Amino acid sequence: MNKVTIDILLTNNIHICATAEAASIKVARVIADEIIKKRSLGQQLVLGLATGNTPKMVYQELVRMHREEGLSFQNVISFNLDEYYPLKETHPLSYHSFMNQHLFDHIDIAQSNIHLPYGEWDVARLGDYCKAYDQKIKQHGGIDLQLLGIGRNGHIGFNAPGSAFDSCTRLIDLHSTTRADAAADFEGLEKVPLQAVTMGIQSITQAKKIILLALGSRKADIIQKALREEVSAQIPATFLRTLPQVTYILDKEAAELIAEPLG
Ligand code: PGA
Repeated sequence: MNKVTIDILLTNNIHICATAEAASIKVARVIADEIIKKRSLGQQLVLGLATGNTPKMVYQELVRMHREEGLSFQNVISFNLDEYYPLKETHPLSYHSFMNQHLFDHIDIAQSNIHLPYGEWDVARLGDYCKAYDQKIKQHGGIDLQLLGIGRNGHIGFNAPGSAFDSCTRLIDLHSTTRADAAADFEGLEKVPLQAVTMGIQSITQAKKIILLALGSRKADIIQKALREEVSAQIPATFLRTLPQVTYILDKEAAELIAEPLG
């Protein structure tokens, strides 16, 4: 490992797993352990959830644990990071649909404990709804554990480059890279929504524990930047380096540019 890499590894909690599956199982285990720990204390776990390709295997493993190991989600309160706007809840590509399909339909979480920004919020009152979303997180005592992916532009949630450290839940224009990455799913760039509601950087960074999961070589470049480049709003994920409660869980491919052998 070169000097820069060693510095980063010493100052950050980074786990590099051999495969995407191993990384995902590790994340699921952390989530399950937190749920079980809270349950043993008679408490609820406030869990921040993400969508996209990255967390799919994590959810698959959590569903397996529910079915085969009896992991219960009855003491979980969930808040998702974001939702396309405007988009009907029932649209097959809404994040409501994603979460139902990959997790909620298969576990025993109470419907009333599930929270997502809503793609059908009335535009005239959108600011109030966004404020209420952050308020609700606070009312539950804040997020205990937040799961994050990372966009190829360094976004966390849909906080595109330029998002301020103190940003809250709000409507945001989707970045061109983000829309391009979603074009195949929507069967055409022109069908990808132009905007989304996202939890802000502040809403995210107030979580007591944060796990950033990145998988595959297409994330290698942004992982290197997120860990090595100057902390700035130009790469929102760099903000995470200023926080002690962040763990990075990467597969070997996503870590390939930070784990170079000494030259
Ligand atoms: P992806 O998206 O998991 O689909 O790559 C990650 C993200 O945008 O956070």
